[in-house]
Amino acid sequence: MVKTPPVQDGHNTFASPPVPIILYYRSFPELLPIFLRAKLTYKCFFDIYSLRINSFGERMYQMTDLKSLNARELEEYRLKLVKRYREFQSRNLELDMTRGKPCSEQLDLSLGMFEVVQTSKYITSDGADCRNYGGLDGIPEARELFSQLLEVETDEIIIGGNSSLKLMHDTIIGAMVHGVMDSLVPWGKVPNVKFLCPSPGYDRHFAICEYLQIEMIPVELTGDGPDMDIIEELVMEDETIKGIWCVPKYSNPTGIVYSDDTVDRLASMKTKAADFRIFWDNAYAVHHFTDYPAGLKNILTACKYEGNPERAFIFSSTSKITFAGAGIAMMAGSKGNMEFTKQQMFFQTIGPDKLNQLRHVLFLRNLEGIDNHMKKHAAILKPKFDAVQEILERELGSNNIAKWSRPEGGYFVSIDTLDGCAESVVAMAAKAGVKLTPAGATYPYNKDPRNRNIRIAPSFPLLEDVVSAMELAAICIQLTSIDVLDAPLTR
Ligand SMILES: Cc1ncc(COP(=O)(O)O)c(C=O)c1O
Repeated sequence: MVKTPPVQDGHNTFASPPVPIILYYRSFPELLPIFLRAKLTYKCFFDIYSLRINSFGERMYQMTDLKSLNARELEEYRLKLVKRYREFQSRNLELDMTRGKPCSEQLDLSLGMFEVVQTSKYITSDGADCRNYGGLDGIPEARELFSQLLEVETDEIIIGGNSSLKLMHDTIIGAMVHGVMDSLVPWGKVPNVKFLCPSPGYDRHFAICEYLQIEMIPVELTGDGPDMDIIEELVMEDETIKGIWCVPKYSNPTGIVYSDDTVDRLASMKTKAADFRIFWDNAYAVHHFTDYPAGLKNILTACKYEGNPERAFIFSSTSKITFAGAGIAMMAGSKGNMEFTKQQMFFQTIGPDKLNQLRHVLFLRNLEGIDNHMKKHAAILKPKFDAVQEILERELGSNNIAKWSRPEGGYFVSIDTLDGCAESVVAMAAKAGVKLTPAGATYPYNKDPRNRNIRIAPSFPLLEDVVSAMELAAICIQLTSIDVLDAPLTR
């Protein structure tokens, strides 16, 4: 499996020096000490990078710390940044980098959907009329296509309405009121019912918990998924922990992909609550930027293999494949779970929008069709994500005051500033006309304990606006960091 590089480690680091230096070193190893000592006229590699050994025992070259500047040097640097910040203020920008929405160019890719349903084609393979009520779990054609996408059987999937978030919300409400299929007591009757919340994570997941008064337990999200040592310990001891939120692929916001080991451990761990559920929100299953996308181990298969077939609820949607808000949502899991869910859905609706399901199947056709369609999305998104990386590297790469993710898919880039800076950065950017996601939003109860995480959503704005917004964000990060670094020196 191709793995996304860890987010928490390796920022601003390189596994080896740039090629010319390697060639130089390989050709004239005996000259290396001289090279090291020489003060080259240009900024020498080793002036900027220092050698360290990372947690995997690998040699990494890391950029020199901004923290090494003295008070005068910091002040000079700060004044230059203030000048640049004022220039941005004078431009009266009005840019919004807050929500991961597709841009209109992406939405245009699916305009063909309006043409695929003809006046004569609305009867499904099982004879149902898509114009009428019925088909609670979706039309057979849609179950067939999207079961392949989620790698489940056709009787292990329900095709719902337009929003997977609504399916997640309704599933939890159902569990609170009636329990899940193997609950002895509805979750809502359990005193202090709790959910594990790998963080940083998706604000809307946390909002559902807060709304339903489910206590959230933040767990650190590493480059491989949530910290499994902590999770295993917590779920083994506490019967009131009923679930965990997971965005296993191109996670919102860090972009990491869960490792096989994490999937296996989630599937096999011993939980004190017999009715524990994994809310596996695979919103970005096919949203890659690369030709060799990361694989993700099948959670349902892993749960079945480990003897916990009912443990996983899988969710996804076409919100970021076709039309956000007018796509189709899906939920998958064991046959038992799906039957139980259908019984609850019976009370909510007489059937989903089957014409929309039909349109989707006729338009996307098969997995190859989805893949080709997603390549067109990637062609629009990649330059924006590349611009974010290029600017962060240029502005922040050499001063060791921020770490950021380098996702290979999904909708977000996650930046960690120095501790205590995120709120000020967001406020400062807002004063110059750039809205960033509120600091803290990626943590339960909007409380980022280190006040350092900022989520960047580059998909919606124009490329040139992404560039302006990121330059400004980088200036704000540097200014705020200098305040933090400077404080002990000047006070
Ligand atoms: C992880 C994740 N899940 C779900 C959603 C929303 O999905 P839907 O449009 O299907 O409700 C989003 C949207 O940003 C998301 O990032």
